[in-house]
Amino acid sequence: MLNDLDSIKSLAGEEIEKADSLKAVQDLKVRYLGKKGIITGKIKSLAAIAKEDRREYGKSLNDVKIYIEELLGVREKACKAVELNKTLQIQRIDVTIPGYRIPAGHLHPTTQVLGEIIGIFTSLGFHVEEGPEVELDFYNFEALNMPKEHPARDMQDTFYISDDVVLRTHTSPVQVRVMQNNTPPLRVIAPGKVYRCDADVTHIPMFHQLEGFMVDKHITMSHLKGVLEVFIQRVFGADTKLRFRPSFFPFTEPSAEIDISCVICRGAGCNVCKNTGWLEILGAGMINPRVFEMAGYDPAQYTGFAFGMGIERVAMLKYGIDDIRLFYENDKRFLDQF
Ligand code: PHE
Repeated sequence: MLNDLDSIKSLAGEEIEKADSLKAVQDLKVRYLGKKGIITGKIKSLAAIAKEDRREYGKSLNDVKIYIEELLGVREKACKAVELNKTLQIQRIDVTIPGYRIPAGHLHPTTQVLGEIIGIFTSLGFHVEEGPEVELDFYNFEALNMPKEHPARDMQDTFYISDDVVLRTHTSPVQVRVMQNNTPPLRVIAPGKVYRCDADVTHIPMFHQLEGFMVDKHITMSHLKGVLEVFIQRVFGADTKLRFRPSFFPFTEPSAEIDISCVICRGAGCNVCKNTGWLEILGAGMINPRVFEMAGYDPAQYTGFAFGMGIERVAMLKYGIDDIRLFYENDKRFLDQF
């Protein structure tokens, strides 16, 4: 009776040896050890064997089972290795081929320049405030010393929403809002979008400005000069010169237009600076006492300076861009350069 186990064992040994794929190994596993497998059948028929033979037969049967399991295990491993090798051969990866570049976007040039400017002023102790783009006539004009019918309003091509509501034409209204809600000393910058009904190579209906102002006791024009000099030289280089030209804004007195030495010709004269050697970059001045009064400050106690600049204008000068409309045409060939 033990003979049949011997022949099962040697047959299984032969068959497993020949199995040359994972599938073949799997089939043999089923054939010998599966629910209806040869070994399983033998185990089931143990009960029918005479009691005195059962023990010895059972033990031998178990040995054969373990033998088959082990052989199958070894074979399975070998077949797996062969198949893995085959797959590696077919799907060979050439790690020396350069990878595909995933095109990554980047910040818009206006945002980049604005970020740089904000970084410079925050390093000087200014902090950022924001105001609404849809603004009351009161903050955009009246509280900045531009009463209704004031001729200075003509300079700002205003989009009116209603008689009392406008799209802000500059960031200066933030000065008043901040002063109303805070007491000096103040060191504030206010970046944001502004709107003017105007369009040509140097004007677009929506652009960005950055307002800056400092209010305290004994603030003078030399503070303004010092702050602007640091700012301009960090953006345009340490050899850039500044020039203050007398000007007029209703909300500053005295007022100045600030020029920088031409970033293209360094002052020698070229077509960008129209042979003057200078480029206009921002407006500034000492905050008008009338503005302090309307914000609720005592002009006898406080003084301050303010300045305002167009961000796109700074970017144009920095990168030598001659048409402001390029910023918002979304031409990738333009934007990819930044
Ligand atoms: N708000 C002015 C403009 O838009 C710029 C400015 C700001 C001038 C602050 C003086 C002081 O033209």
